[in-house]
Amino acid sequence: MIKLSPSLLAADPACLGNEVRKAVNAGCDELHFDVMDAHFVPNLTFGPHILAALKKLTDCPFDVHLMLDQPLSMVDVFAKSGADVLTVHAEAEHFVEALERIRELGVKTGVSVRPGTSVEVLRDHLHLCDRVLLMTVEPGFGGQAMKPEALSKGRELRALGFQGEIEVDGGIGPANMQLAVDNGVDVLVMGTAFFGSADPVQLAQQVHAL
Ligand code: DX5
Ligand code: ZN
Repeated sequence: MIKLSPSLLAADPACLGNEVRKAVNAGCDELHFDVMDAHFVPNLTFGPHILAALKKLTDCPFDVHLMLDQPLSMVDVFAKSGADVLTVHAEAEHFVEALERIRELGVKTGVSVRPGTSVEVLRDHLHLCDRVLLMTVEPGFGGQAMKPEALSKGRELRALGFQGEIEVDGGIGPANMQLAVDNGVDVLVMGTAFFGSADPVQLAQQVHAL
């Protein structure tokens, strides 16, 4: 079954707890939690204390996307705060060591690539990855248009023999979710499309029927 991971970046920050409950009640499979350092990307979002607070509200897994220059220094604290999946960027420093550490901590590993980064950089490290997160926009902000050329990396990953989960993030919604799945994608991150939806229950059902 295709999984839906609503991105809390598009939720109302003044009532995050209620937004988490809304996503869980709609039937989402995970909650996507974007972490930015104002350096790897030009924006700031949530820290580990917010994750720990939201984690108390639900058993739904938290899919933590670290957009950090130095993820290795932060994986322990995010694991302790309740991350169920920890994804680091292949463009970040020491990403291989970060993946090894995440695995040591007993958390699911993910690696992400920006739209302009080839999946070739992952070839020798795929054994360390439970999941690959393909960015379909430049990371940093929600509400951007999806870059369709980034989706074909799903097929390239399968051609490299990757059997783990493939996730896409950025501009994903009803208009392009079938195309993502046709390219081998298993997990759909949706920020604007989910939290802006008039009927999130129906949207989750549509994803699960893909
Ligand atoms: C962007 C974030 C995304 C973002 C997606 O850097 O990684 O998770 O919230 O938002 P939408 O779905 O609005 O593009
Ligand atoms: Zn993200």
